[in-house]
Amino acid sequence: MFLEDCVVLENNKISDSYYLLKLKGEKSISSAKPGQFYMLQCKNESTLLRRPISLHYINKEKQIIEFYYEVKGKGTNEFKNIKPGENINLQGPLGTGFNTDIENKNIVIIGGGMGMAPMKFLTEALSPKNNVTFICGGRNKESMNILDNFNLENIKTIITTDDGSLGIKGNVTIPLLETLKNKNIYKIYTCGPQIMMKHIMNIAKKNNILCEVSLEERMGCGVGACVGCSILTKEGMKKVCKDGPVFDSKIIIND
Ligand SMILES: Cc1cc2nc3c(=O)[nH]c(=O)nc-3n(C[C@H](O)[C@H](O)[C@H](O)COP(=O)(O)OP(=O)(O)OC[C@H]3O[C@@H](n4cnc5c(N)ncnc54)[C@H](O)[C@@H]3O)c2cc1C
Ligand code: FES
Repeated sequence: MFLEDCVVLENNKISDSYYLLKLKGEKSISSAKPGQFYMLQCKNESTLLRRPISLHYINKEKQIIEFYYEVKGKGTNEFKNIKPGENINLQGPLGTGFNTDIENKNIVIIGGGMGMAPMKFLTEALSPKNNVTFICGGRNKESMNILDNFNLENIKTIITTDDGSLGIKGNVTIPLLETLKNKNIYKIYTCGPQIMMKHIMNIAKKNNILCEVSLEERMGCGVGACVGCSILTKEGMKKVCKDGPVFDSKIIIND
């Protein structure tokens, strides 16, 4: 884990209140894994706590770190106003990410809403060695603008939107169930709204498929020191910032 000041290269609006932040990184780049996150320091020091944001992508050659974020409150509003050339301080990479150590398998990756954030790095980490189906869910066509920033060559990509303005009208479980009918799926990776992941975990359990889920909790320290992000699992209390944010769905209480 490193603390580093990074120069902002780009901070562009992608849609509605969604932004893509690109930074010149250095120290933390080589060890970062898909599914990990960074604590970003707000520009205005009156917002004391750093904000956890998933690693969207790392370009190791060019030393660029990308974050995809939604403006929600005070902290993310400050991120929105940071200009190219200014610095932002990062702490990370933090937490336990996705296990990408697999080869020659049929895999489904599912991102819903802001849960698309960790999926650029994950799809690229898994796609050369595995057969990847990527299911993306969002409110509408605009919410899928972020896909322009993905490299989806050789990845079967299926889009669902709530209003049907792009792809299949409905939620991600529709193409997931269809995919399971046609392919022998080894593992599902997912990040998104709780209700979406709840359904996906149920489907994975019913079909006896391995499943990793990335959870979100409000965080204080981000490094396992304050217990602010603790959750009860089938294996007792776990800290989302340290034991997660990615967990094997088998240990998640999903009633
Ligand atoms: C491991 C992890 C990874 C994350 N990755 C991303 C990401 O890649 N992109 C992104 O946009 N957001 C991500 N988040 C959520 C992000 O951290 C919060 O949206 C952000 O901290 C809100 O800060 P704020 O000061 O703008 O809002 P606040 O003023 O603190 O709160 C505004 C609103 O956001 C809600 N909120 C605040 N924190 C969270 C949280 N952790 N989870 C859910 N709701 C919250 C509050 O309840 C409130 O309604 C992640 C959170 C975690 C724990
Ligand atoms: S946020 Fe402090 S222990 Fe997880």
